[in-house]
Amino acid sequence: MGLLTGKTALITGAARGIGKAIALKFAEEGANIAFTDLVIDENGEATRQEIEAKGVKCQAYASNAADFAQTAEVVKKVHEDFGSIDVLVNNAGITKDGLMIRMTEQQWDAVIGVNLKSAFNFIHACTPIMMRQRGGSIINMASVVGVHGNAGQSNYAASKAGMIALAKSVAQEMGSRGVRANAIAPGFIETAMTAALSEEVRKEWMKAIPLRRGGKPEDIADVATFLASDLASYVTGQVIQVDGGMNM
Ligand code: NAI
Repeated sequence: MGLLTGKTALITGAARGIGKAIALKFAEEGANIAFTDLVIDENGEATRQEIEAKGVKCQAYASNAADFAQTAEVVKKVHEDFGSIDVLVNNAGITKDGLMIRMTEQQWDAVIGVNLKSAFNFIHACTPIMMRQRGGSIINMASVVGVHGNAGQSNYAASKAGMIALAKSVAQEMGSRGVRANAIAPGFIETAMTAALSEEVRKEWMKAIPLRRGGKPEDIADVATFLASDLASYVTGQVIQVDGGMNM
């Protein structure tokens, strides 16, 4: 029996990258998987098939996580399709970097909308279900820059700091109903998001990492599996940095 056998997990933005690695790891541990992404194209469908090949049920849903009404609708659909939602991973995220002096209102609104409001949207829609079940695990994908800040990423860092505070607050509100909420703060993880960075920036990051390598999506998936599982049944309101010991 896997660590997540019998549980249904809903993961946002999981067609690729960290979300996909989490979905695959959860499926290996026996969870049925519902995942969203902006569109479910060939890549999303290939991800769905890869997850299903682990021997679990998997459905993919096209939905904009930043949209409150679409989120309510997709959560209702997932609940109808799967009968429960035991684990929610708020993973969808974007960057639109720039120094504050040059940052536009659009850059600010887009990043806060996709990264932070999306987490509100999904938590708002899922917690009534989890409270009725008297159990659930919410995992917000934050970032080390949400803990330390980062020049050129004030919108992104603020959104990630918000996800940490959101998890801690929900943990306090929902603990008595058996619902746990935690945040993971990844450091430098090798995905499409970080592939866009220049070699110079990558070298600077590597110097700050005692383990001397970028993280793999699977490094995050392992910690997410712990938080989703009953191994973490007394862990709530925490932020776990998964960053190779990065000194920022
Ligand atoms: P990625 O860009 O490879 O994947 C993000 C996924 O989210 C994509 O499939 C994208 O289509 C989806 N997405 C974007 N906007 C969406 C929306 N409005 N609604 C639904 N889905 C949407 O990124 P990656 O690296 O896998 O990141 C995943 C999460 O981890 C993000 O929240 C990111 O901020 C966070 N993170 C990543 C780090 C890294 O080094 N890669 C470090 C720290 C945090």
